[in-house]
Amino acid sequence: MALIRELGINPSYCVETHYHADHVTAAWLLRKETDCQVTAAAQSNIEGLDLVLRHDGGQQFGDFDLQVLATPGHTPDCISLYLADPAMVFTGDCLLIRGCGRTDFQTGSVSELYHSITSHLFPLADETIVYPGHDYQGRTISTIGEERRLNPRIGGDANEQDFTGFLENMQLPHPKNFDIAVPANLKMGRPDTIPVASSWAPVTETYAGILEVSPQWVAGNLEKVHVLDVRTRVETDEEPARIASVRLIPLDELRDRLDEVPRKLPVMALCRSGNAR
Ligand code: FE2
Repeated sequence: MALIRELGINPSYCVETHYHADHVTAAWLLRKETDCQVTAAAQSNIEGLDLVLRHDGGQQFGDFDLQVLATPGHTPDCISLYLADPAMVFTGDCLLIRGCGRTDFQTGSVSELYHSITSHLFPLADETIVYPGHDYQGRTISTIGEERRLNPRIGGDANEQDFTGFLENMQLPHPKNFDIAVPANLKMGRPDTIPVASSWAPVTETYAGILEVSPQWVAGNLEKVHVLDVRTRVETDEEPARIASVRLIPLDELRDRLDEVPRKLPVMALCRSGNAR
């Protein structure tokens, strides 16, 4: 979100190519901050969408007419979005650069994924640029031609049996935050409790519901708040630098020392990450 503000981007749409299992989407927050429309396939069952996409239909996004390709397999609701001119396809977690989405949870299907890629994506023209949802090596684009030739899971001469064998033997760990991420993503990442906006400081909220104020704001407004350094003794031993005049009460002692905290001004806790809360 900070990057979007910094770049001055004002998106009109936020497209969820599917509901994710390993992280919580920022779609709800993005809509709150920018008024964009959140959209996903009807099959996603995501609550509160502004625009519901139909598999294999066309969809106008501003000046661009994109085709919504049903590409299930990683999840049943997965879509890819294809633009004919200039040729590009946004493949979400279906086709990745030299890889593909996993199919071992969220009712994924190896067979469906194989047919999604070979029947809907690989028939596109060689020069079609592929924008995947993820890449863990810093790559951002590929092309259909490259993936058709070089993707080790499904490119070259690999057939469905090879593809199935590859995916079924990956033995990937279960996503750590699955039980949190899936229910949250079915609500566009909307937190259960939404803090009231504050009038005394530009407070932002994290998904976890923690209120934060930027260190820059605090530095310029020290007279308006009481800053409490709550780093533990181990943390202050490792990083002894302190803000002058700021009281230090380690977090593990705070409960017993609450009467030392002044009440006349808003109290901000400063933790090791450097954020004020
Ligand atoms: Fe995914």
